[in-house]
This record gives sequence, C-alpha cells and structure tokens, in this order.
Amino acid sequence: MPEHIVAHSLRVAQVGVFISSYLKMSGEDLDIGLVEAGGLLHDITKMDSIHAGENHALSAFRLFRTLGYHEVADIVRQHVRLDQDIRHDTRISEALIVNYADKRVKHSSIVTLSERFEDLLIRYGTTPERRETIRRLHDEVTEIEFNIFKKLDIGFTGLNDLNVLEPSARVKPEDIYK
Ligand SMILES: [Fe+2]
Repeated sequence: MPEHIVAHSLRVAQVGVFISSYLKMSGEDLDIGLVEAGGLLHDITKMDSIHAGENHALSAFRLFRTLGYHEVADIVRQHVRLDQDIRHDTRISEALIVNYADKRVKHSSIVTLSERFEDLLIRYGTTPERRETIRRLHDEVTEIEFNIFKKLDIGFTGLNDLNVLEPSARVKPEDIYK
C-alpha cells in the first residue's frame, strides 16, 4: 500500500474512532474497534484494483471474506456507497461511520463534504453520468451527516479540529474538548 493511502487510511480511522466515541457517550451502541479496523483497511486493495480495473470496495470485500473477517468485509464493501437499509436504519452502524469518515478525509486532511465532493467531481466526474452519480452521493452523505450530528453537541465542522494532530493519533472527544 503506497504511503499516501496509508496516511489517508490512518486519518479515516482517526475520524471514525472520534465520531464513534462521541456517539457512544450519547448512548449509541457501537464497536469502536470495528470502526478503527474498517477505517484502516478500507482502501487496502485500492492500488491493485486501479491496475486491474476492478472495483476496490468489492475486491477488499472479497479479500476479508476469504480471510474470515466478515464484519470488516461488510464495512469495506460499503465504504464508497452504503446499502440502502444501512443508510435508513435508525441505528448508526459502524459501516455508516467509516463511509462518512472517508467522505470527510481528502488525502490525509479533514475537509467538509463540499470540498471532498468537489475534488471527487474533478477527479472522477469525467462523464455527465458520473457527475450525476457523484452529486447524488453527495446528497445522500449530506443526509447521513445530518443524522450523525443531530446526536452530537458539536457541529460537523468541529471535526476539522483534529487536523492539528498527526493522522495516527487515536483521540477521544475528551482529549479535544476538555
Ligand atoms: Fe476507497
């Protein structure tokens, strides 16, 4: 895995752990270790998949399923696009958090959804259909963001505070909001 994907994955894991710790304090039932594993591993096959012209979420899914890590497999499979039932579930799931965290991290920096999707449009919006898909995904994730943050007492831009830390630091809300 190239350095830049390692840095990106560390940051996604950090954001995911932070959000899930925060949600846990407000009473959500979440497996933080699973979020961390999903964040660290979601792009594990990305480089190979680019070369092979494969869908990297599906190739990562197959890898972890073969290894017997079914929960991680399910999370990495959904990191680009969530299954509809997970998106609409009233329970916030580990897969939803990893998916959202990935949308807040551009390279290894935490950005807003608008910044991230602008970048995705430039990099992947090569046809009108692709641009439409990216815009639809942006709408979906905006709704997810609303559903996460209505349970928390920080705004979504509050996550940007983590940018002052190294991506690998494992932080809990109480470390930031003393
Ligand atoms: Fe990815």
